[in-house]
Amino acid sequence: MKTAIITGVTGQDGSYLTEFLLSKGYEVHGLIRRHSTSCTQRIAHIADEKFFLHYGDVTDSLCLTHLVKEIQPDEIYNLAAQSHVGISFDVPEYTAEATGIGTLKILEAIRQNKIDTKFYQASTSELFGGLPYTAPQSETTPFHPRSPYAAAKLYAYWITVNYREAYNIFACNGILFNHESPRRGEDFVTRKISTAVAKIFAGRQEKISLGNLDAKRDWGFAKDYVEGMWLILQQDKPDDFVLATGETHTVREFVEAAFEEVGIKIIWRGAGVDEKGYDSESGKLLVDVNPKYFRPAEVDLLLGDSSKAQKILGWQRKVSFRELVKIMMQADLENYGR
Ligand code: NAP
Ligand code: GDD
Repeated sequence: MKTAIITGVTGQDGSYLTEFLLSKGYEVHGLIRRHSTSCTQRIAHIADEKFFLHYGDVTDSLCLTHLVKEIQPDEIYNLAAQSHVGISFDVPEYTAEATGIGTLKILEAIRQNKIDTKFYQASTSELFGGLPYTAPQSETTPFHPRSPYAAAKLYAYWITVNYREAYNIFACNGILFNHESPRRGEDFVTRKISTAVAKIFAGRQEKISLGNLDAKRDWGFAKDYVEGMWLILQQDKPDDFVLATGETHTVREFVEAAFEEVGIKIIWRGAGVDEKGYDSESGKLLVDVNPKYFRPAEVDLLLGDSSKAQKILGWQRKVSFRELVKIMMQADLENYGR
């Protein structure tokens, strides 16, 4: 029986990875932070005698060192991060501490305890950023971070590579493109759209206000991606891999697809901050643009090339863009709509 530590266990990916590893017979130890209100909604349904939670924080090296020493895990998945790109402009220093230096603290805990463990770092397509935009983006595409979040993840990426090269630690980066699900936080754009469309359909919300409708993302389904994380650690040698669908869609296309799930066709009028989306039948205003959701610097285009992961890991995304929208809409219609 293998043992794993997951940081960020209460997040979208942490919850799916916990289910996945338990289904493979792992003993799973999750790191959770203390909150004044509960933050365990995504894992509350998991009743398994091989699932344990420990209070801690990736900014606290003492707790990390203690946890690694006590559990002596076979694998560590570092998913903890201040993961919101837009909010990282508001809390840049904390983002650097948690999302960047937190990775160093875990690697040091492995090194100092001399534990033979495999380490997965949740790296991101935000590393590619832009300027100039080249696509598709693969393991060999140069990085150009465009936010405090991406700059912190850049440090985490390279310190992972460095501890692999310097100390021979089995440390790997999964460079994952956007992946979504009904468990996605409601302040990320896909979930913001799916919850709003469900509420509009139920007559509980008038319209949705968004930022940059032209941004393009390579959106996949989170469950497919946690399997990829595990596959990365099952290889004979440590390496870095891109996981992506190879398809890109604008935020505007996601809006259209989500409304189509409730039988509404959106027609667009105007441009830039004046662009608006209307119900093609009733003429009702359903979508507008609010500049408060614009970012000081934007990543315009993400489109991944996961051929290395397909070839070496045998990894494939299973859920298409349209299926993803359907899955999220069905869940939010249950939650908020019907
Ligand atoms: P998420 O839903 O925002 O979850 C983030 C997790 O990190 C939460 O469990 C959160 O705990 C925890 N966390 C935050 N700060 C922490 C700290 N200081 N100490 C300990 N835990 C802390 O993110 P996700 O979508 O599951 O993403 C998982 C990881 O993959 C993140 O590192 C993210 O940056 C990266 N990533 C995500 C995507 C994507 O599209 N989803 C793509 C590429 C990379 P609380 O519940 O206590 O807040
Ligand atoms: N959140 C949000 N809210 N984004 C909006 C909105 C809005 O109202 N309107 C437009 N957008 C645009 C953003 O400007 C961005 O271009 C795009 O929608 C996607 O934004 P998010 O869903 O917040 O995700 P992200 O791409 O910035 O970051 C996510 O994916 C990264 C991987 O590429 C996060 O999960 C990161 O942690 C992850 O690394």
